[in-house]
Amino acid sequence: MNTRAPAVAARQLIKTYPGDVTALNGMDLTVEPGTVFGLLGPNGAGKSTTVKILTTLARPDSGSATVAGHDVLRHPDRVRRAIGVVAQNSGADPAATGRENLRLQGRLYGVTGADLDRRVAGLLDRFTLADAANRQVKGYSGGMRRRLDVALGLVHRPQVLFLDEPTTGLDPEARSAMWDEIGRLAGEEGLTILLTTHYLEEADRLAERVAIVDRGRVVVEGTPDALKGELRGDAVHLELRAAIGEAGRTLLKGALGGLPGVHEVVVDGHRASVRADDGAAAMPALLGALERAGVGVAAATVARPSLDDVYLRYTGRRYAQTDDLVLAGGER
Ligand SMILES: Nc1ncnc2c1ncn2[C@@H]1O[C@H](COP(=O)(O)OP(=O)(O)OP(=O)(O)O)[C@@H](O)[C@H]1O
Ligand SMILES: [Mg+2]
Repeated sequence: MNTRAPAVAARQLIKTYPGDVTALNGMDLTVEPGTVFGLLGPNGAGKSTTVKILTTLARPDSGSATVAGHDVLRHPDRVRRAIGVVAQNSGADPAATGRENLRLQGRLYGVTGADLDRRVAGLLDRFTLADAANRQVKGYSGGMRRRLDVALGLVHRPQVLFLDEPTTGLDPEARSAMWDEIGRLAGEEGLTILLTTHYLEEADRLAERVAIVDRGRVVVEGTPDALKGELRGDAVHLELRAAIGEAGRTLLKGALGGLPGVHEVVVDGHRASVRADDGAAAMPALLGALERAGVGVAAATVARPSLDDVYLRYTGRRYAQTDDLVLAGGER
């Protein structure tokens, strides 16, 4: 393989499911070798579908993709040998021990003998599973299971590792331990990691580049710092006492957007968010304008730009609310 080729390249992937569900709608992605790339998006955005196509578990309706230089449609066998996959749901056999799971996975990929012994011992050690190695996986905690999942993805020394929501469902302590582990993996020579996540903080911390995915396509891509840097000034978030309707929204946007040093007004249900050159300085004027408009304010915060604000800018919706929207609307 040409080592200068991207580790992952997807072009215009389209994937629909029966019932007129468009899971991917022109997905484009390029991941450079040796980097950690984060696919960030709410429930149903198309993250797992992208991973399934790139790992040869699903076929796109149209579009093309290569992984480690191999075409996923023409040479799925070559792709499978070059990758490790940690699916959103654990693939470990709960009735087997951690060690047995690792050994089986190794043998499936042709790792045998002393090489397999060394590899399994090394991974058990590295993922702090050595003490639990001979216990059945069904007795593992969530964090231990997830660490085993990642170890399973690494047994055959893949070039590209796919991690589909590696920390969803973990408690904060286990999540933090997993972040450390992924951070260390990222330092390993040549390993490329494509990780999907719901968590802005996770992408911010682990990924050198992130793509925000919404409704089956990438809406913006870049380094976390560059994305945040594009947002001028502070983010001001105002929690409103009542939800704003369609007509009120236009009026409010006009009233807030006309204030000096205030731009990019987004009104979304119970929240209004603006960018301000100086958030603290703009606050009295913002509160005054809301009062004149008869809109009660329950809380107001000023913050430096976060990936949440990046998401808001490119989708017009707040990130934290999107899960509720999908659950309530089910329109995707
Ligand atoms: N096998 C399937 N059959 C029908 N629809 C599917 C199937 N798999 C995914 N979808 C739909 O495709 C869309 C994208 O799903 P996908 O699992 O890729 O999202 P995701 O970003 O991974 O979401 P989550 O964060 O919840 O894991 C969703 O609307 C989902 O309901
Ligand atoms: Mg998913």
